[in-house]
Amino acid sequence: MMPSFRMTTIFVLLAGMILSRSKAQQLIPTFYGNTCPNLTTIVGGVLQQAVQSDIRIGAKLIRAHFHDCMVDGCDGSLLLDNDAAKGIVSEKDATPNQMIDVDIVDDIKTALENACPGVVSCADILALGSQIGVSLTGGPTWHVPLGRRDSRTANQDGTSAIPSPFDDFSVLQRKFRDVGLDDSTDLVALSGAHTFGRARCQTFSRRIGTDPTLDPTFSDVLAQICPQGGNGNALANLDSSTADDFDNNYYTNLQNNRGLLQTDQSLFSTTNASTVAIVNRFAGSQRDFFDAFVQSMINMGNISPLTGSNGEIRTNCRRIN
Ligand code: HEM
Repeated sequence: MMPSFRMTTIFVLLAGMILSRSKAQQLIPTFYGNTCPNLTTIVGGVLQQAVQSDIRIGAKLIRAHFHDCMVDGCDGSLLLDNDAAKGIVSEKDATPNQMIDVDIVDDIKTALENACPGVVSCADILALGSQIGVSLTGGPTWHVPLGRRDSRTANQDGTSAIPSPFDDFSVLQRKFRDVGLDDSTDLVALSGAHTFGRARCQTFSRRIGTDPTLDPTFSDVLAQICPQGGNGNALANLDSSTADDFDNNYYTNLQNNRGLLQTDQSLFSTTNASTVAIVNRFAGSQRDFFDAFVQSMINMGNISPLTGSNGEIRTNCRRIN
């Protein structure tokens, strides 16, 4: 009797843990309607100001949101600084996060704490800031489901779940499936965020002059930016045709073998892959891309949020309360 009682207890505990991390249905766009009614205006104001001096602000935010969601769900864990006393080993120090820049989150948080103290989570700042950053650069606008709470832990080892630019196509697909995302439409639509922002030479330079799926003329252009033995931290535009606009040219680039990262190009150049037709569809219709992108962003934002009384609303996004 004893072992089966124990098994039942373990099962109930596990089920409880899984349920408490998967209440995505509780996220709603009007979550802060009463508690912080000017939320969107406040976040929009900070970002509109910031984009004047940093065109990449939206790109930085959406990438941070993605990297946060891939590690134990969209819970703001990425934003925590190292804190030995509290056992926090920052995710920001892990290899996939080397170029992450989330300083703008502090400015947004300060503005929100002034208007509605202790109300808006850091995880929601990433989700809403991503949407506003996309629309400020010409992309779609949508109602972001809100109500996430912030983690009290970080998981640096968990950053291995974040896709690497050197992952094979099959690994890329598996990493998306592992977090409940679709390995075709979500993968292609979300990769479309590489329509803006930059990447460091070290993330793609090994393709120059060697990768048959890289257009030779484009390869020469990249060789100028990233000469052999040069600075691996030099930056190139992820979208070589319209660098800072949120549009569907990313997909046309892939059709022309001008995807910057090997993983970008693999969506189009992998023989018989389910993603090829989707790339072609999005290249042919910005409307189709935007519609799919919005849905996939909502899917991504729904990855295991903390809700209800789980986690906390951090006062400072860098530290647990
Ligand atoms: C599909 C797998 C993905 C891979 C392998 C990947 C990889 C990368 C890499 C290597 C960089 C350059 C980073 C550096 O130089 O250190 C980058 C930048 C970026 N990624 Fe991704 N990424 C992926 C998916 C996504 C998704 C799903 C989003 C958002 C929805 C996203 C948004 C961005 C943005 C906006 C930038 C530019 C950031 C900036 O300018 O600071 N990526 N990505």
